[in-house]
Formats: sequence, structure tokens, C-alpha cells
Amino acid sequence: MSEMRKLSVWQRFKEDIYCVFERDPAARNVFEIVTTYPGVHALTAHRISHWFWQKNWKWFARFLSTIARWLTGIEIHPGAKIGRRFFIDHGMGVVIGETAEIGDDCTLYHGVTLGGTSWKGGKRHPTLENDVVVGAGAKVLGPITVHAGARVGSNAVVVKDVEEKATVVGIPGRVVRAQKSQDEKAKEKLAQSVGFDAYGTSNQTPDPVASAIHGLIEHIHITDKRVEQLCQTIRQLGGQVPEGEMPELDGCELDKERDQTKVD
Ligand SMILES: CC(C)(COP(=O)(O)OP(=O)(O)OC[C@H]1O[C@@H](n2cnc3c(N)ncnc32)[C@H](O)[C@@H]1OP(=O)(O)O)[C@@H](O)C(=O)NCCC(=O)NCCS
Repeated sequence: MSEMRKLSVWQRFKEDIYCVFERDPAARNVFEIVTTYPGVHALTAHRISHWFWQKNWKWFARFLSTIARWLTGIEIHPGAKIGRRFFIDHGMGVVIGETAEIGDDCTLYHGVTLGGTSWKGGKRHPTLENDVVVGAGAKVLGPITVHAGARVGSNAVVVKDVEEKATVVGIPGRVVRAQKSQDEKAKEKLAQSVGFDAYGTSNQTPDPVASAIHGLIEHIHITDKRVEQLCQTIRQLGGQVPEGEMPELDGCELDKERDQTKVD
């Protein structure tokens, strides 16, 4: 769950804003995000109301969250625990209950409910671990855990725990994709990512230029291997092939360059 490193309020605020660039391709600049994203407004209001809630200023905390709801259409109970770089896209109709817990780097779309199924006190709302994406209109109900990296499809109703990196759709939620196989993971590594994929379609963002270059590098690797095998066969048959190592092709250099150009 949320990293314990102490950050200043300003640093947290900056993180909450900059994470929007990774998750909404429509975001153009900080001014636009600060002035036009209700998810950011609601989260900022929650950070404040949660502080008052912890200081036992319960009524005032709820009053602030009610004002935020009037303004944004997003209802977050001040008792809810929300980690770093949380993003609510569009926002209208989102409800997050009092005992909900949300890890780092989670994303919700409009109409999502993290709700309870019982009128008893105590923990009655879901826990989302890190990197969870919940699609528009989905309801995640009860004191269940959606484990790290899982994705909940739009309009799903989830009432049971969701395993790590699984994708759940439908009513009641059923897993359509469990943890990725080693093969898929290896492919993803090679195919390269730029972080988050908007709308939860995969954990990898398809930067078309990076994907094309990595595709070419993969192709060259395979071609190199085949040429090497051909050379060996020719040598075994008594033919002559010039010796000499090919320079290593490393896609990671591209990654380093790209990372440097990312917004700090
Ligand atoms: C669930 C989700 C993350 C799956 O994305 P994905 O990994 O690319 O999965 P696929 O599109 O390959 O779908 C896998 C299967 O689930 C089904 N499916 C996908 N999303 C579904 C949904 N929301 N409800 C029901 N079934 C769904 C597909 O039809 C497919 O079924 P099939 O294997 O029988 O053909 C994605 O569909 C989703 O709902 N993302 C949230 C997007 C959102 O809320 N956007 C709001 C933007 S404003």
C-alpha cells in the first residue's frame, strides 16, 4: 500500500496533478488540469477534509466533503484512506465510502462506487491495492480486496476479492484475464511501455514510435540469431565466413532517453 516516505503537502499536490498526464491523453498542461479536472479538485478537497477528520473535527470534515461533492459530483467520505497519485477521471457520480482504502497509483472513472453492503459499523468498504483501475460505472462492494494491478471493467459489480493483475468484468464480476503468463510479461518488457494505459486496456501505454522501434529491434535480434546459425552451419560444412562479433543492440538505451524526457 501507500509508501511511508514523508512528503510535503506541496509535493503530494504536485504528484496528484502530474499523474494526470500519464493517465489522460487529453491533459495538455498543468493550468488546464488544476482548473478543469473535477477529480483533482475532489481529491484536493479530500486531502484537506481527511486531515480534519483525523484531527477529530468530524463535522467540519464532512461539511468540506459535502461542499466538494456539490462542486464536483464526487462524494468521498473524509474517513477514506487514499494513497499517492490517485486520479478520478471525469468523476461525476463517484462514491467512496468511509472505510474504503486506496493504494498508490489507482484510477477510477465516473460512476464508480466503492461501497458497503452492510449497515453495521467497522470495515465495510473495499480496499484497492496499488495500481488498480476501476472502469466507468463499476461498483466494488463490501470489505473485499482488489489486489495490486487488477482492473475492473466498466459497469462490473464486484463483490469478491480480485487477485493480483486480474481483469474482472460483468455482473457479478468474473475474471476474464488472470495474472499474465511469463511469456506475456517477457513480451511486454520487450514491447516497452511509457507507464499507464488510459482506460485500463492494458498496463502498458502504446507509444506508437517506441513500439515500432522496439518491434524493429526484436526483429533484428531474431534476424541476427538466424544469421549466426547460418554462419555456424556454413563453417561446419567447410565454408569460410568472416569472424567478428556484431555490436549488441540494446532497446534499453531508448528507454533511458525516453525516461529523461518525461516530466519530472
Ligand atoms: C475490462 C477492461 C479493462 C478490459 O480490457 P482488455 O484487457 O483490453 O480486455 P478485452 O477488451 O480484450 O476484453 C476481454 C474480454 O472481456 C470482455 N469485456 C471487456 N470489457 C468488458 C466490460 N466492461 N463488461 C463486460 N465484458 C467486457 C470482452 O468482450 C472480452 O470478452 P471475450 O474474451 O469473450 O471476447 C476494459 O474493457 C474496460 O472496461 N476498461 C475501462 C474503460 C473505461 O471505463 N473507460 C471510461 C473512459 S471515459
